[in-house]
Amino acid sequence: MKISAQKLCWSAGNLEIVRDVSFDVAPGEFLGIIGPNGSGKSTLLSMMAGIRKPLSGQVMLGDLPIRSIGSREIARSLAFVEQQAETAERITARQAVELGRTPYLGPLSGWSVNDDDIVDAALDNVDMADKADRLWHHLSGGERQRLHIGRALAQEPRVLLLDEPTNHLDIGHQIDLLELVRRQELTVVAALHDLNHAAMFCDRIAIMDQGRMTAIGKPAEVLTAETISTVFGVEATVAPDEDGICHVRFRAGGARRNSARKDAIS
Ligand SMILES: Nc1ncnc2c1ncn2[C@@H]1O[C@H](COP(=O)(O)OP(=O)(O)OP(=O)(O)O)[C@@H](O)[C@H]1O
Ligand SMILES: [Mg+2]
Repeated sequence: MKISAQKLCWSAGNLEIVRDVSFDVAPGEFLGIIGPNGSGKSTLLSMMAGIRKPLSGQVMLGDLPIRSIGSREIARSLAFVEQQAETAERITARQAVELGRTPYLGPLSGWSVNDDDIVDAALDNVDMADKADRLWHHLSGGERQRLHIGRALAQEPRVLLLDEPTNHLDIGHQIDLLELVRRQELTVVAALHDLNHAAMFCDRIAIMDQGRMTAIGKPAEVLTAETISTVFGVEATVAPDEDGICHVRFRAGGARRNSARKDAIS
């Protein structure tokens, strides 16, 4: 299923947080969104998920404006893992993943063996099957993050929106998780901070900078030393590795302060 942003804008008071952002994500495509802290990535994703209402513009989920679709129906097509996802504490790991089945349950469609199978597979996929009976508040930050992803997979969405999905994860689980997401053949939009992970896993990368989407394209087109310097204020070299995947190497002492960055831009 495709998802599109059409001229999305969002403001807080007089402050423009997302400015006129448009892009399409094709069915099965993995789009990474990178950009400095405060550049509007989470705000954009929450509009894409139908949670935050755009000041102007619209989000299309498939062929329909998301604002015209009921929340239960959205949840059957789209799952969103927020940056600071909360979950009630007095539940087990398994129950946290079971929440993903909520959009499918109703008076005429109770919990079934099929739901159990889907939850088992999701727990297994995020490497949490052996901790399924643990209480949420006894779990580590990384284990909770993996369960949030498990909950989203249990939702069986066609579009997956992820806000910094590798937060709290050790490097092994970061790679596992991005490979897992890739394998699902879902339409994925993920805010990522690790530029090398973005280059490894994304079909395309978009850059958010001060509320605008300033670039979108294949990793090698977007991740240039010049762009990284302009957007993040960090000196880097970018070169393809032996697999042809572009690899960013940062230079020690290459970071400039934000004020210096703004001077450099103006
Ligand atoms: N409800 C709100 N009211 C006021 N300002 C807000 C609100 N929501 C977001 N902002 C501001 O909008 C800007 C963009 O926030 P957002 O969370 O979208 O950034 P981000 O790119 O996701 O950053 P990070 O990399 O730190 O997660 C920030 O300066 C934030 O303080
Ligand atoms: Mg954010």
